[in-house]
Amino acid sequence: MVHDSLRLRVTRITPEAEGIRSYELVPMEGGALPPFEAGSHVDVHVPGGFLRQYSLCNDPEERHRYVIAVQCDPKGRGGSQAMHERVRVGDVLTTSLPRCDFPLLYARSHVLVAGGIGITPLLSMAHALRRQGARWHLHYCTRSPERTAFRELLTSPAFAGHVTFHHDGGDPARGLDVRALLSTRSGGTRLYCCGPAGLMRAVREASLQHTWPREKVHFEAFSAEASGAISDRADTEFQVVIRSTGACYPVPPGKTVLNVLRQNGLRVPSDCEAGTCGTCLTRVLDGDPDHRDTFLPEARRAARCDMLVCVSRARSRKLVLDL
Ligand code: FES
Repeated sequence: MVHDSLRLRVTRITPEAEGIRSYELVPMEGGALPPFEAGSHVDVHVPGGFLRQYSLCNDPEERHRYVIAVQCDPKGRGGSQAMHERVRVGDVLTTSLPRCDFPLLYARSHVLVAGGIGITPLLSMAHALRRQGARWHLHYCTRSPERTAFRELLTSPAFAGHVTFHHDGGDPARGLDVRALLSTRSGGTRLYCCGPAGLMRAVREASLQHTWPREKVHFEAFSAEASGAISDRADTEFQVVIRSTGACYPVPPGKTVLNVLRQNGLRVPSDCEAGTCGTCLTRVLDGDPDHRDTFLPEARRAARCDMLVCVSRARSRKLVLDL
């Protein structure tokens, strides 16, 4: 084990649902792992040179192992496929120390809304809430029982009465009625959501419509590869033009617009840098943004007049930004 990274041995790979496997990781030298809090993730160096973030989904009280789960996305950028195809029991993976951008905060009750592989951070929260004896309920949205990871665990006596499954058969209109769920709220409730972009947008819009306090609604953003729903485009290079100076900067694959603006001395406020908070909203004067956030409502996205520069890219070859 070195100072800021971990070398972990894969001791178990478990099929959890169609296309989803969990990986149990333990320290090579034995002993205890650094503690983590519910909602944490690690960066994993995946064979083939990929670096991917995966949430830890086991009980945060466990110190002998981390468990991650990976959904194989054949249309993704290769990281999840490499995890499925190249990682075997006995292999050693290098990971970062756990980090938490999605902490579980005190509340009188908790509503958890998971979509697909977005169950992973919420599962560690469910473990923590169960131990605390807290009031909580998990709504878990998937296409079918076969696509539902950790089903056995979540239907076990330990979680009985705290979990509702919603299977939509591929049609979100037949799944969880997010508006109805969020239409009532008892004081002191917090809501946590992680899943595909469409689900997170629906939860955000319903929470605004039913005047949930913003600080009580928490989102964990997924990469495009993990959610499979943020963009249908691979990263390609495009240009950003700054209205005030006329300067033109290339945005290559692997860099965000925000990175490029900062490197060139432009100051754009940011917070989450994951497309969930809205802080980096920037007006677009010309060009076609490729929205990859989970913040902007559908009508704003369609209007193409602003974008979140921490994650969104371009469908056109050029974007003119009002900076
Ligand atoms: S910094 Fe939060 S959406 Fe961009």
